[in-house]
Amino acid sequence: MKQSIGSIQKTKNNRKLTMITAYDALFAKLFDEKVDFILVGDSLNMSFAGKPDTLSATLEQMIYHTNAVCSGAKNTFIICDMPFGTYTNELDALNNSVKVFQQTNANAVKIEGGSSKAHIVKHLTQNSIAVVGHIGLMPQNFRSEGGYKVKGKDEANIETLIQDAKDIEKAGAFCIVVEGVKEDAAELITKAVDVPVIGIGAGIKVDGQVLVWSDMLGFFEDFKPKFVREYLNGASLVKDAVDSYVKDVENLSFPSDKEKY
Ligand code: KIV
Repeated sequence: MKQSIGSIQKTKNNRKLTMITAYDALFAKLFDEKVDFILVGDSLNMSFAGKPDTLSATLEQMIYHTNAVCSGAKNTFIICDMPFGTYTNELDALNNSVKVFQQTNANAVKIEGGSSKAHIVKHLTQNSIAVVGHIGLMPQNFRSEGGYKVKGKDEANIETLIQDAKDIEKAGAFCIVVEGVKEDAAELITKAVDVPVIGIGAGIKVDGQVLVWSDMLGFFEDFKPKFVREYLNGASLVKDAVDSYVKDVENLSFPSDKEKY
């Protein structure tokens, strides 16, 4: 059954939460009811659309993929990533999030940013849009920061991250994703807030974990972040299967008598 925000929040200090990304109905159906949340991440711009970063994902694309995921996973809490440039001010953030809520069955949106985005989180939550925050390494800063930079390496940055988490919690975020942060910093952030903190590349001392589906199932071969555990060698399985198909067609063993009308 689909989790409610209340039931998600009650898991804090009781059990670990699980989140996985999905971009289509086929995989969303396989993940349905197995995890607490499905995130339609703007990482789809890289693993689905083959782009070098998440920045060119559009609202229309996120709505299209969120619709597909909602069709596949009817019993899981679904979060839609707000893409780069769609929540730079309160009005745009609300108009664009309302489009997501009106045109899909998403249960929440996720936005990247800490204290500086707290007013946006507040505006959305005050207008009935549930918000997941995202702090630490924020992929939408890839170009402005010149790459993916691990956070929480020094005391000043740890203090900033803790304040980021506190400010977006106060603004109404019911859950916070913390990405690419040293484990001790992630632990301090987790202890500083009452809402669940979901880590990715942030160690084990958080309230739950999220992985990108194509990384954890071994389909994305362009690069492998250190924090990813591959639970399947998807790319080799698919390539071997396609090689077998081609061989079977070429040597006339497919289709067989049983595989025709
Ligand atoms: O876009 C995404 O898949 C994400 C995860 C990395 C948390 O934001």
